[in-house]
Amino acid sequence: MTTPDLPAELKAALASRLQGFSRTDAAGRAASISRTYRDGGGSTAIRTENDALAYALARMPATYAAVTASLNALCVIAPHFAPKSLLDVGAGPGTATWAAAEAYSSLRAFTLLDANSALRALALDLAGTSARLRDVSYRQGEARAALADAEPADLVVASYMIGEIGDAERKALADLMWAKTRDTLLIVEPGTPAGFGRIIALREQLIASGAHVAAPCPHDGKCPIAAPDWCHFTQRLPRLRAHKQIKEAELPFEDEKFSYVALTRAPVSQHPARVLAQPVVSKVEVTAKLCTASGLVIAKLPRRAKADYARARRWRWGDAVMEEG
Ligand SMILES: C[S@@+](CC[C@H](N)C(=O)[O-])C[C@H]1O[C@@H](n2cnc3c(N)ncnc32)[C@H](O)[C@@H]1O
Repeated sequence: MTTPDLPAELKAALASRLQGFSRTDAAGRAASISRTYRDGGGSTAIRTENDALAYALARMPATYAAVTASLNALCVIAPHFAPKSLLDVGAGPGTATWAAAEAYSSLRAFTLLDANSALRALALDLAGTSARLRDVSYRQGEARAALADAEPADLVVASYMIGEIGDAERKALADLMWAKTRDTLLIVEPGTPAGFGRIIALREQLIASGAHVAAPCPHDGKCPIAAPDWCHFTQRLPRLRAHKQIKEAELPFEDEKFSYVALTRAPVSQHPARVLAQPVVSKVEVTAKLCTASGLVIAKLPRRAKADYARARRWRWGDAVMEEG
């Protein structure tokens, strides 16, 4: 399992770029970028080197943690997957590339693409500090155009990206990303009802094109979750000092909510149930909300079934678990 904390090399690279960058200025830029996000403007507020750095400080630790958690879940289901090539679509500062490099030592070729030149410059600067990522290829342009002539890759990732484009464009991009996927496509989105809505639509679209779900779902069938409920997970991550300053936050950690789907060309061989909320442990029983191959289940594991109870006490939100002991 890869830790959700940014790799030491990346932390050091970010820290060195922070020298001489006023925290008040960075906090102001990060706040204005988040306002634009909330108003539906996506990454358009990120125009300069300092905007890109403020964005990376404020958001990269959390999106890195969400991608890492999703890749950890994928590794449990597909333990022998050893991708050699990565395509990071809407790569921004290169977050998913760093996460995938940590998760898969097999990766050799990294291709990133994004329309934003300030984020691209920062990504190349950060990657330049890493022996493994020094030679990444980073194409600048609209995702679909940049992807069209890219070589297919074993692992294709779009992290916190598909929410920035319109519905029709997203559908076309999903088809193209799938066409460029040799083995696995991972999509990660904010863990909001809207983020989940985009994941579930893309999941359905690509299953119709022959994709199989590796995680989080234990089946390729219709999602059993109905509004107002939505499928999402949470990952706790430590906050760096600069990260706390920029977010004007006190707590030394934050919890990032995310939704994701990992789709594969070949069906996966195991379909464990997925824990969809933090189980409630009482002296009498453990109650857990599970997505299983046959639908949603509220599992109750009574204390008198000693081994099952002991096993279920260790279940965490997001885990893949066997219902029977
Ligand atoms: C929220 S950022 C996420 C960056 C990175 N993937 C991460 O997880 O930290 C979204 C990225 O998608 C890029 N993007 C959005 N629409 C795009 C498009 N149509 N073509 C290329 N890149 C796009 C933005 O420039 C931005 O870098």
